[in-house]
Amino acid sequence: MPEKKERSGLRRPRRIGDMTMAGPTQRPSTQDEVNYSVWSGRQGVARYGAAKGWIDSSEGVILPKLVSEYAGGAVLDLGVGGGRTIGLASRAAGAFVAIDYVPELVQVARQRFPGVDIRVGDARRLDFAPESFDLVLFSINGIDAVSHTDRGAVLREVRRVLLPGGTFYFSTHNRSGPGPRERPWGPPPVTMRHPRSSVLSLLRRVWRFPVNVANYRRLRTLTELGPGWRVTTSGAHDFGIVIHYTTAAAAVAELREAGFAGPIRLWDDVYGTELSGDDPRLDGCWYFHVVARRDP
Ligand SMILES: C[S@@+](CC[C@H](N)C(=O)[O-])C[C@H]1O[C@@H](n2cnc3c(N)ncnc32)[C@H](O)[C@@H]1O
Repeated sequence: MPEKKERSGLRRPRRIGDMTMAGPTQRPSTQDEVNYSVWSGRQGVARYGAAKGWIDSSEGVILPKLVSEYAGGAVLDLGVGGGRTIGLASRAAGAFVAIDYVPELVQVARQRFPGVDIRVGDARRLDFAPESFDLVLFSINGIDAVSHTDRGAVLREVRRVLLPGGTFYFSTHNRSGPGPRERPWGPPPVTMRHPRSSVLSLLRRVWRFPVNVANYRRLRTLTELGPGWRVTTSGAHDFGIVIHYTTAAAAVAELREAGFAGPIRLWDDVYGTELSGDDPRLDGCWYFHVVARRDP
């Protein structure tokens, strides 16, 4: 008998094909559908199914400290993709659960990490009892895939499932950085710290120029603006995704609104440097890392 298909709590967005191959005449309906198509498409599953190691030095500084602090505790990994963070985050955990709303990625992660509790689930509606986890993470800006309203739902859900003394660690695209101004005819993010991947990104930007322009023209119609935030295209995935950008001040405000009452700390996107919310160096960051404590 064929295995019953797993479903996340919310309606699975309509598939609209591999966005990086889409032509300029196709019209996306929502941000959710666009991004879901990218994560669940062939290239998305291959990319996140093979991802390993730290995404940057900041993650390599922050996550090991949190993992040690909560050794023996319960950890929830949201948007786990193909499982890159599983080895890094579950090392010392007493209990570990990972979820992703793309069943294809969950299947890949389960194959890579047999025996680990990996489920299909949506971060906007968590299927866990209140006060279940010591540490919740949402890595590589996964929270930015959802709309501004849904982002509030994710934050409230994370706050709900965190135990007293718990922590939420995530990264998010920077409204004050170069990201919202990225265009197919400009350079991609490059850094001397990662020369090989920077050169590959530059080459890909040139090679994929027609696809990038077509995707950018089609998806910029989904741009939305709010106080301290913007939803618009990103150069990632050949301009095939539409993401939420926030300022540091707006990120802090939305966490407070969701009930996070403790210290909120920020780090840059490359070097593992902690920054205050008004540090001008934030303007050079494509994204930043956030560690938000549930309680004072
Ligand atoms: C940039 S990828 C990062 C994957 C993985 N965390 C990693 O570090 O390699 C973002 C992931 O978040 C997942 N995601 C986005 N929105 C989600 C949601 N509302 N609920 C659950 N997963 C979500 C996507 O399917 C994708 O796997």
